[in-house]
Amino acid sequence: MNILIIGNGGREHAIAEALLKNEETECVYISTHNGGAHERIINAELLNNDIESIDKFLVKTQIDLVIVGPEQFLSEGIIDHLEAKGIKAFGPRKLAARLESSKAFAKEFMGKYQIPTAKYFKYDNYDAALAGLQEFGYPVVIKADGLCAGKGVSICQNKKDAVQALTDIFHNRIFGDQGAEIVMEQFLSGFEASLLCFVSGNKIYPFDTAMDYKKIYDNDLGPNTGGVGCISPNPYWTTDLDQQSNEIIRKIEQGLAEENLGFTGILFIGYLVENGKLYVLEFNTRFGDPETEVLLPRLKSDLLTNIIQTIEGKPVELDFAENVAMATILVSQDYPGKYETGYEISGLDLVDPDILVYHNGTKQIIDANSDQKVKIVTNGGRVLSVVAVKENLAAARQAVYNNINRIHFANMSYRTDIGKTIDNY
Ligand code: GLY
Repeated sequence: MNILIIGNGGREHAIAEALLKNEETECVYISTHNGGAHERIINAELLNNDIESIDKFLVKTQIDLVIVGPEQFLSEGIIDHLEAKGIKAFGPRKLAARLESSKAFAKEFMGKYQIPTAKYFKYDNYDAALAGLQEFGYPVVIKADGLCAGKGVSICQNKKDAVQALTDIFHNRIFGDQGAEIVMEQFLSGFEASLLCFVSGNKIYPFDTAMDYKKIYDNDLGPNTGGVGCISPNPYWTTDLDQQSNEIIRKIEQGLAEENLGFTGILFIGYLVENGKLYVLEFNTRFGDPETEVLLPRLKSDLLTNIIQTIEGKPVELDFAENVAMATILVSQDYPGKYETGYEISGLDLVDPDILVYHNGTKQIIDANSDQKVKIVTNGGRVLSVVAVKENLAAARQAVYNNINRIHFANMSYRTDIGKTIDNY
């Protein structure tokens, strides 16, 4: 079986490696470029990385399954498009992907099916939104309705910040049409938990939990990122939270069936736990990054089998090992702001054999004459996910940081407290 993965980050690299564990998998193609490519993970180098270039690739290459990583493609209806061409594809269709691509749609869904979530109102113009601020205290959360590459959420500490956020969205149109509507939401404080689930035939099959570190600096300081550290299972998850989550899952299943969304793929429930009570912050309709880098190494069941079970609407036989995975993401200095790339990465050959290194943003430089790889350079804000899977968090943490010391690139930066400060949550 040949598989194409749309996307090119650490998530896609982790999916590719997991798919190769199934002997039916011959090759996995990555749509653009991942520096972790080897003889069975092949860079398709689709220059424009758009539906047209994907179509052209599918004409000339025998592909049996397409798996979609990033939300943008799902929101544009790539699954509907591929299915119409008779190509087997994994992910939700456009209608179901609205659970991520429209914050207002997701909140309405949660409201209708009594899924606990923060109080909210939606607005489609500046004046109404400004007046709406009176409904909330501070901090207040302002979210652009559409997809904004992780930048659409502002936590406003006071009225001045909130007015600025509304001005940026409605007047300066910093998110374009993705900010034509906003969700204004009560701020909840607590810790977050990520729960990825397969959705097959309107039934939800949850993975084990994970905890994402979103802030760029130690002690959860600085701006939000796509995620710069992750632990699975979430160290704060309890039996009681599991019970609350199961009740929420039943309500989501009811909603998916009644709304006839035909959801097939991954539903990523972004939870927040405030004073022991579980709230749904958001839905994503795809694998998380870096959650995938810590979840898939713990997966005991076979990923490809689970994906096929989902596409066929069958029960998904998921199984996780009783161990702990931890990832620290090496980033380019100044990420998530403007950063430089193209720096050579050294030391990858020095890491311990049981350490997993997934490539988030790297590039192989190939010698044109010999076709041989000459070096790997940085090619993104998030560069490498260094992952250890051990019997407990302390051992995983020690292994990750010991091995990070062997990897070098100019302007390398990373959080030093992943797995350390959890008592502060
Ligand atoms: N780590 C959060 C996300 O994938 O959206």
